[in-house]
Amino acid sequence: PAPPCTLVIFGAGGDLTKRLLMPSLYNLAGAGLLPEGFSILGVDHNDGTDEGLRDTLTKTLEAFSQDPTSEFHADHIDQTSWGFIRDRLHYLKGDFEKPETFSAIRERVTGSAVFYCAVAARFFGTIVDGLGQAGLLKQEGDEFRRVVIEKPFGSDLASARELNARILKQGDESQFYRIDHFLGKETVQSIMAFRFANGLLEPVWRREYIDSIQITAAETVGVEERGGFYEPTGALRDMVPNHMFQLLCMVAMEPPNSFDAEAVRTEKAKLAEAVRPIPPTDAVRGQYTAGTSAGRDVPAYRDEPHVAEDSVTETYIALKLHIENWRWAGVPFYVRTGKRMAGRRTEIAVLFKPAPFKMFADTPNADLGPTVMRILIDPDHGVSTEFNVKVPGPQMRIGRVRSGFRYKDFFADTPNVGYETLLYDCMTGDATLFQRADNIEAGWAAVEPLLAGWPQAEVAFYPAGSTGPREADALLARDGRHWLGLD
Ligand code: BG6
Repeated sequence: PAPPCTLVIFGAGGDLTKRLLMPSLYNLAGAGLLPEGFSILGVDHNDGTDEGLRDTLTKTLEAFSQDPTSEFHADHIDQTSWGFIRDRLHYLKGDFEKPETFSAIRERVTGSAVFYCAVAARFFGTIVDGLGQAGLLKQEGDEFRRVVIEKPFGSDLASARELNARILKQGDESQFYRIDHFLGKETVQSIMAFRFANGLLEPVWRREYIDSIQITAAETVGVEERGGFYEPTGALRDMVPNHMFQLLCMVAMEPPNSFDAEAVRTEKAKLAEAVRPIPPTDAVRGQYTAGTSAGRDVPAYRDEPHVAEDSVTETYIALKLHIENWRWAGVPFYVRTGKRMAGRRTEIAVLFKPAPFKMFADTPNADLGPTVMRILIDPDHGVSTEFNVKVPGPQMRIGRVRSGFRYKDFFADTPNVGYETLLYDCMTGDATLFQRADNIEAGWAAVEPLLAGWPQAEVAFYPAGSTGPREADALLARDGRHWLGLD
């Protein structure tokens, strides 16, 4: 189990606490990974009591377990595991902007603690200042004081730098755990094992053999109730310098010398710093119009709640980027992410170069496409490879096949809503899966020219339920390539 500590959650009444933190803590308790000396102090601005918090969180946990679309779907809640968490829940009413809140926390917290900022981004700096000024970030002996910071971490390079500078005034880099929930995904963590625990890939994982890489995070959901957050944010800020860059780093970074946090994060930083700043001419911003998604009619982005009727916020972005190092020079990485697309698919597709000599040029169907290795992240979990073989029969004909591995065929399903590993790692002090200040800043630096180029940029429209705007197809067609399908 993790060492004894108090988990202080700022934003105890919020969605993140209910949807992700509680189910993850419940799963950790079930796996026996939480210590006897564990307690949770929920802080929020509403009136409340320990019992009130316990009841609310019990109800939401039960509701999620009954929701078939939730990662947490289960027949029943194990009362021993939930009882372990429930009995340790306490509540403190407090305004994050008032020093009294932090003095009250100081009264309640002794020993090691993890302070989790499950709040809107505008409070991150305020909370860290409050913690620092109250002396809550001082560590004595073996005791630790750590802060988990959610995303979005800044809204551009300047604000990310400012936030880093502000929090680092109150504590040491090793105390800050900047979360990117993509790193909580088993399939993302496994990319490192796939690449570095197999000798097969190393020789071909480079510019001589790889034609291009496509990184996709396509969603079928729309913006729904999140218009207030999404309008000033958009798909680029919401997904690219954080989640998409994590996938990029995992697939393209150099092998770290060890699996140690600093070694891994240094390789990621080097990779992100090698991304050539992306010019607006290599990016397409799109916005969904009304359409059909999963068989039902859905409104245009501009008709979603809290969205301006003439909004030019992008709900889709496609871009081409280049990594300026020896391994990847000349290999384009095409990245796309969007809401209300034809299919839900998060994956990295590695497209290999064609065979050097067209031996089968005269046979029917000779040009069926390159060997493609897809690392499937969501909703399928696995690796699938598409390649060309001979079609059985007397004639030499080439056909395309797919061979795949799915995690579920080999491993038992471990209950996982995505934050278990991250919470556990933070309590045990393993920062491998968290973002260092330089990782965050490098992500923002790469997209900076796009952010700067935006006021003039046009937004291209695509119907909800489609594969994205035509302009994004043109971005690849320009290079003689095309996007892989989303089905
Ligand atoms: C979040 C974004 O960080 O990631 C959302 O704010 C997005 O807009 C989500 O939908 C995607 O995460 P996942 O795990 O559902 O692929």
